[in-house]
Amino acid sequence: MSETLFVGKICHRFEELSSTNDHARNLLAKSKPPEGTVVWADNQTAGRGQLGRQWIATPFQNVTLSVVFYPTWLAIVRQFDLSIAVALAVHDVVMQAVPADIPVHVKWPNDILLGGKKTAGILIETAIQAEQLRYAVVGIGLNVNQTVFGETLSQATSIRTVSGHLFDREEVAQRLFRALEHRYLQLRAGRSTEQRMAYAASLWQKGVRARFERLSDGVLLEGVIEGVDELGRLRVQTDSGVQVFGLQAVRFC
Ligand code: BTN
Repeated sequence: MSETLFVGKICHRFEELSSTNDHARNLLAKSKPPEGTVVWADNQTAGRGQLGRQWIATPFQNVTLSVVFYPTWLAIVRQFDLSIAVALAVHDVVMQAVPADIPVHVKWPNDILLGGKKTAGILIETAIQAEQLRYAVVGIGLNVNQTVFGETLSQATSIRTVSGHLFDREEVAQRLFRALEHRYLQLRAGRSTEQRMAYAASLWQKGVRARFERLSDGVLLEGVIEGVDELGRLRVQTDSGVQVFGLQAVRFC
């Protein structure tokens, strides 16, 4: 039973799909699913991550789903506000699941880190029509009960690994639906400044000297992370002054 107004009220559940984001986008190409419709698969054969990467998760152990939103009220230039709202929602769920002394951070733009290791990834895909956001497919991969991560995932973890508890995935998904709805409605009610402050407060390595790779030419850069600007670009204080990096411009080393 969903205790939400709209997120997760309709849930298309599959044992296997190529990618829940792809399936949600196919639904949107043919119809207008109600806002909050969820596509959830226990296994993705072609799960997608940011920057064209793959999302790999052991079948039946995690939560890998996509939620359809219609943030037509959000200016296109403020799209990153949605990313912040979603990151905070996942951050809220992860915080509730682990002991209070384990740090939970948001790594720019929207990875969720638990004790410095990645426990969730977010892939938001939007469609724009007549200079308005038409829809957003919010894809979330949350590592729940997986405890074995291969060599390529050495920097990954799960809420089970950290807390020692086996989780009921349905319950975790319900918590996620409630948190997403809460943060989405907060944003819609105009509380983006408050959300930005919460995001800044949990930003990984804020105020710390970090190394980045500029993706256009592979050049390595160093600087102190100051925060994120209105457009969602990372502000870094480098030796040659403040530089801002767009979403696809740099990655952490
Ligand atoms: C990232 O960190 O690179 C983003 C990962 C997003 C993964 C989720 S899993 C559910 C949804 N379907 C996909 O194909 N990707 C997202």
